[in-house]
Amino acid sequence: MSTPITESAAEILTTDEIRKAFPALAREHNGFPVAYFDAPGGTQTPRVVVDAVADYLLNHNANTHWEYPTSHETDAIIESARKTFADFLNASANEIVWIRPASTAPAAGIPRVAFAQVAPIVAQRCAVCHSLHPTLTSAAPKGIVLDSASQIRAQASLIKTVAVDTHVMPLSNATQMTDAERKLLGAWIDQGAKTP
Ligand code: HEC
Repeated sequence: MSTPITESAAEILTTDEIRKAFPALAREHNGFPVAYFDAPGGTQTPRVVVDAVADYLLNHNANTHWEYPTSHETDAIIESARKTFADFLNASANEIVWIRPASTAPAAGIPRVAFAQVAPIVAQRCAVCHSLHPTLTSAAPKGIVLDSASQIRAQASLIKTVAVDTHVMPLSNATQMTDAERKLLGAWIDQGAKTP
């Protein structure tokens, strides 16, 4: 496991030492020192972070909360990072919650729903009727065809009305759509109905 950062942070580093910790600042272009600032892209990553991430990926990478060593190690690393941040922010460890980087983290902590999660739901629960080649009806009802990403996207707000806000669709819930699926579909639409 990597050395907890708390131990080394006890010493005060000089500006020069701090600069040396950021490999990106050693870059040169045509013989001149240059720095490219794209902070949300994580340009200035200190070596200690690179090393910790590499160490994690190479030696411990696992799901959390399982009964095998790499999973225990993962839990311990996350817990130790919580303590470190709690110390830094003068909070307690159980107040530290990890979300994705700020540029991609949705505001209310609702995980971002990918179209890839939504597509199979629409295919299974809707497109059996709403398709150019439906299997449960002879033709797409009301001309609503939900075969492709762009067709689904184009109908997003109507889909929200009939399958999330109300449950008029699927008709008589013929395809047994679950509430969890409705929620997921609704979250994807709320997040802008983005298709790849
Ligand atoms: C069993 C077949 C069937 C399934 C499955 C089905 N629908 Fe429909 N859908 C219909 C029929 C029939 C109509 C036309 C209802 C009417 O005449 O008002 C319709 C109408 C619609 C309309 C048009 C509503 C309007 O006001 O014009 C939308 C949008 C729609 N469905 C979306 C969906 C979505 C989204 C799903 C999946 C979550 C779905 N449907 C599943 C049969 C189905």
